[in-house]
Amino acid sequence: ISRNFSTSSLARAAIKNVTVVGGGLMGSGIAQVSAQSGHNVTIVELNQEVLDKTHKSIQQSLQRVAKKVYKEKPQEGENFVSETLSRISTSTNLADVVQNSDLVLEAIVENLSIKHKLFKSIDDIAPEKTIFASNTSSLSISEIASVCKRKDKFAGLHFFNPVPVMKLLEVVRTPETSDETYEKLMAWGKAIGKTAITCKDTPGFVVNRLLVPLMAEAIRMLERGDASPKDIDIAMKLGAGHPMGPIELADYVGHDTTNSILNGWHEKFPENPLFNPLPSLQKLVDEKKLGVKTGEGYYCYK
Ligand code: CAA
Ligand code: NAD
Repeated sequence: ISRNFSTSSLARAAIKNVTVVGGGLMGSGIAQVSAQSGHNVTIVELNQEVLDKTHKSIQQSLQRVAKKVYKEKPQEGENFVSETLSRISTSTNLADVVQNSDLVLEAIVENLSIKHKLFKSIDDIAPEKTIFASNTSSLSISEIASVCKRKDKFAGLHFFNPVPVMKLLEVVRTPETSDETYEKLMAWGKAIGKTAITCKDTPGFVVNRLLVPLMAEAIRMLERGDASPKDIDIAMKLGAGHPMGPIELADYVGHDTTNSILNGWHEKFPENPLFNPLPSLQKLVDEKKLGVKTGEGYYCYK
């Protein structure tokens, strides 16, 4: 976790004012790590009620970091939390805040037409220099960018949950993303304390293209009755060194997310058996047993 920022790395990054659209699970983490590294962040949400929740969850996460990093110095920890929060502002008016934004990073619902509507609404009014990026898990960046004129200033910035902890950032280039945009985003990734890798605009980029089929194969294994969820998870933790087993991870990521990724890819690439729908996953989604966040998935957390 980077708590100090050097002015030189900020100067190199050129991106100073960041707008994060969507203050949910991912957007709040992205806003937190950006503000922690000295960037000015504005979070845009649909209404004030959600913004209040977002603010609270960032505050709690920062307190968790402070407790760990400033164990012996609680006063410094408090300063760290309040200074970081002071760099975060909130708004419900995207058109207003993009005027002063170097980067608009979208982390709203995983739906192409809703993402199109958002970017279309700001393409003509944002300053020419402003870079647009999406944190999509599974959609094509080129398809999202298709409604914008600034295709050279459009890229994917894919973070991982929990954002304050996971060190990776995938920087996704489309064939039209300019070198300058790509370099600025790689530098920004470094400035916020992440290790950035370069990805092409292929389904799932690098991590999800490997992780989603792994979770799906593990679920197929338990659907066949070849092993129990617990044994599959123990196997991958102790036999392959993963921090979480694939069934545990599916519960953690959320079954609505994984199911919609798989179904979307299956529709687009019906010939790939790795993306075949999973009956037990669909059943859990229908029953609203979405995993850790609802208290039940393949495991029970109540
Ligand atoms: N904010 C701040 N800090 C947090 C945090 C949060 N939200 N969540 C955890 N932490 C910190 C804890 O304070 C703790 O710090 P120390 O070890 O320094 O004390 C550390 O992270 C580990 O946390 P825990 O001890 O609570 O739990 P753990 O050791 O079991 O680790 C985990 C939890 C980091 C989530 C680990 O199990 C893990 O890495 N799991 C795999 C997660 C993963 O694969 N994520 C990617 C999902 S796919 C995705 O995100 C992409 C997509 O598009 C769907
Ligand atoms: P979430 O549901 O927790 O948060 C989405 C937020 O966006 C909500 O608070 C909602 O009110 C807000 N929102 C919706 N439409 C909006 C609009 N037009 N303007 C402003 N705010 C709007 O979702 P999440 O899990 O944070 O996922 C967000 C994005 O990140 C998705 O594209 C998802 O695929 C991607 N992603 C998710 C994960 C994950 O593990 N959950 C990991 C990486 C990437």
